[in-house]
Amino acid sequence: MILEVNDIYTSYGLSQILFGISLNVDEGECVALLGRNGVGKTTTLRSIMGLTAPKSGTVVYKGSDITGNAAFRVAKMGVGFVPEERRIFPDLSVRENLETGRKPAAGPNGKEWTIERVHEIFPILEGLGDRKGGHLSGGEQQMLTVGRTLMGNPDLLLLDEPSEGLAPLVVRDLSQQIARLKDEGMTILLCEQNAKFATGLSDRAYILEKGQVRFAGSIDELQGNEEIRQQYLGL
Ligand SMILES: Nc1ncnc2c1ncn2[C@@H]1O[C@H](COP(=O)(O)OP(=O)(O)OP(=O)(O)O)[C@@H](O)[C@H]1O
Ligand SMILES: [Mg+2]
Repeated sequence: MILEVNDIYTSYGLSQILFGISLNVDEGECVALLGRNGVGKTTTLRSIMGLTAPKSGTVVYKGSDITGNAAFRVAKMGVGFVPEERRIFPDLSVRENLETGRKPAAGPNGKEWTIERVHEIFPILEGLGDRKGGHLSGGEQQMLTVGRTLMGNPDLLLLDEPSEGLAPLVVRDLSQQIARLKDEGMTILLCEQNAKFATGLSDRAYILEKGQVRFAGSIDELQGNEEIRQQYLGL
């Protein structure tokens, strides 16, 4: 087990958002965290990452309790976070943006990421190497954000709504790229409102509503449970 979230309660000031979330991710898995807007998906990722510390409960990463650790420490241990808002540097070139993500690997886990390896996953970035980040399309920015995070050699990738705001054809490309990452052994926790996109890539899913887990199971179980799909995903 690479990540174990046990019964976390998280609030922003006085507003309580998460009410006892538990989930886990095994090495090499892609796990979807689904639910409509405002159910607590981003807050769950922020709690794991140490950006918003849970009030109670624990986050265990590679066997260490990291609950409430500072985000830079969690990142250093090998957790890569790709936030919802794509934070690229608009005045730096694509290549320079990728360079800013370079970090040594936390452990002896596989081969190190290089710009060339990022290009193998996202070929479109290769031809855009000199282009300023601010001049990229939404899809290109998303690919650059993921690529930059890969340059930090994460062992676990937290992706927050990567498909948001992208055209269907771009979402299809991104889906193939994430599938390839998974094939290469990357462990992924994928937050999405777009359940179709996420379930196509994932082994298991958790569905949140009002800060609680309402479904946990395999993608097959989810596909076979029409009631759950209709109630929480509108599918
Ligand atoms: N910084 C904040 N301060 C106060 N409330 C917040 C803050 N950030 C989020 N919230 C509230 O917490 C709740 C859960 O938000 P969260 O962003 O975790 O949901 P989400 O499932 O990621 O939604 P979305 O699909 O829209 O990204 C929402 O009601 C939101 O308004
Ligand atoms: Mg969110």
